[in-house]
Amino acid sequence: MLLIVSICMVLSFSGCKAEVGVKSELQQSKEDRQGEEGIEGEAGEEKAIYMDTSVPVGKRVENLLSLMTLEEKIGQMTQVARDFIISDEHITSYGIGSILSGGGSAPQPNTPENWADMYDNYQQFALSSRLGIPIIYGTDAVHGHNNLSGATIFPHNIGLGAAGDAELVKRVARITAIEASATGMDWTFSPCIAVPQDERWGRTYEGFSENSELVTALGKAAVEGYQGNSLSDDTSILACAKHFAGDGGTTGGIDRGNTECSEEDFRNVHITPYIGAIEAGVGSIMVSFNSWNGVPVHANSYLITDVLKGELGFDGLVVSDWSGINGIDGFYENMTEQDIMEGINAGIDMVMVPDNYVDFIVTLTGLVKDGRVSMERIDDAVRRILTIKFNLGLFENPCADRSNVGLIGSKEHREIAREAVRKSLVLLKNENQVLPLSKNIKRIVVAGTKADDIGSQCGGWTITWQGEVGDITEGTTILEAIESIVSEETEVIYSKDGSDVPEGAEVAIVVAGETPYAEYMGDDSDLLLGEVDANAINNLAGRGIPVVVILITGRPIIITDHLDKIDTLIAAWLPGTEGQGITDVIFGDYAPAGKLSYTWPASIDQIPINDVDGSKGALFPYGYGLTY
Ligand code: GLC
Repeated sequence: MLLIVSICMVLSFSGCKAEVGVKSELQQSKEDRQGEEGIEGEAGEEKAIYMDTSVPVGKRVENLLSLMTLEEKIGQMTQVARDFIISDEHITSYGIGSILSGGGSAPQPNTPENWADMYDNYQQFALSSRLGIPIIYGTDAVHGHNNLSGATIFPHNIGLGAAGDAELVKRVARITAIEASATGMDWTFSPCIAVPQDERWGRTYEGFSENSELVTALGKAAVEGYQGNSLSDDTSILACAKHFAGDGGTTGGIDRGNTECSEEDFRNVHITPYIGAIEAGVGSIMVSFNSWNGVPVHANSYLITDVLKGELGFDGLVVSDWSGINGIDGFYENMTEQDIMEGINAGIDMVMVPDNYVDFIVTLTGLVKDGRVSMERIDDAVRRILTIKFNLGLFENPCADRSNVGLIGSKEHREIAREAVRKSLVLLKNENQVLPLSKNIKRIVVAGTKADDIGSQCGGWTITWQGEVGDITEGTTILEAIESIVSEETEVIYSKDGSDVPEGAEVAIVVAGETPYAEYMGDDSDLLLGEVDANAINNLAGRGIPVVVILITGRPIIITDHLDKIDTLIAAWLPGTEGQGITDVIFGDYAPAGKLSYTWPASIDQIPINDVDGSKGALFPYGYGLTY
């Protein structure tokens, strides 16, 4: 029987790059250890069952589970960030279940080949474990494979919400899955189906809308796009609906704060989108950092076990957020035994530790041995994890499928992104029909801090966690798009602050907005336009030419005081790499069609102001949008 074991292991261990039959010293040392670990002949024979694709997944799961030690089970519940892996051999010896790239965590050089090589390397160490259980690798591909340089970067969800087109969202997610899976990725921590109620929240742009029904429809479409027709398809990746639940409802829009509302409101606004995601077959759900009425959701067994797994019947895996269980006791700095016990007993199946994984494994093992976490709870978690891995086909195809690498950032993909940009634009004002502009315009002034800045166009979660201004990845800035669409006779003058521009321009375009941010770094209590942009508008107003303002922001900002100097106002949100989607509309090839998926407040003290309140007194109401 041992022969079967070693043949299985050699075949699977040969893994991603070594030739079949070639054993590494890792494999040899593992076989030497088999005697010590007492893998019985009959165990070797049983082991073949879980590797047998003709056996139903449920039986494969039960067979494998029956062979696993407690330590191996807990290893599967452990998700480690790549940056914190002390030794790759720990992937083997601890049987680590999952590895992730956090925001901006990429192999260097940041190329598709290097991503796939990184993935295959980790996978080989996983396949070298006693039972050869492959890892599942996750990354935040939330608007394209955005940790990868050169990937197609799509509008963030706030723009897709304004487009309001579920079929488009599905195509965007599908392309993201194709580009991510071509580098080995198995899992994206997306879609974010938050229902943001307060624009001061730094994650407003990650939400499609303030309206739960719209979020539900677009969230379902995203799950279907990522997961394809079957999780085992080559380009399918596991979706992750996040963050369960109430992330967008915190008081004051404080990230990771406290959502204070009745259970009826909590369900109607914040849980409804998860019903849709589950209907779409979402395979994983991430727990939210916030609290609900003072109870951290990471420790809320009523929400995770009774409601999500029980009442809503979610049978996929529940993953914590980054160090999310640490915060159960209110202190993120460290993960205590109590944190771990409460988080696992609440129903979390996989813990995004993501750093001190040895401490986590040792502590949870002790909790089970002390009877403070039951083996039933552990087995429920591991069943869910293994079921996902079998359904993804990871046991049969553990290595990166590089066949679609050539599609990453391709013209075909960028054209879809350009379409998404067009459809995401919301025309809020167009005095005297300034737009559409003629491509034969004689002289045009372009100003504003965001006119020539791909990093700001993309926003947070792009190349780095927070995103960055400047030329951070391949794409087309709005200035470049303008220069490419106008006639050769047109003179385009760029002046960031709109100063010292010559007379004779027929129109001025000011591209203004926010500097990239993510999560709590984006929490903002005044939402005002930056000084340089405000000056640019002031410098260009009153020169007798129309002023067109394009806003590159992650949310509605307070623009009221500038409105009288603006003839035409367009919300472009965070459009991503394809700036030509904006000039397609400004120069009339397409008419604007976007509608506000968030109420636009007239002043900061109106916030929170949402459609459910009838958007009364808002500058622009929910659903507002002009066209030509
Ligand atoms: C972050 C975010 C979550 C993300 C995770 C992994 O803290 O809250 O949305 O998926 O960590 O990067």
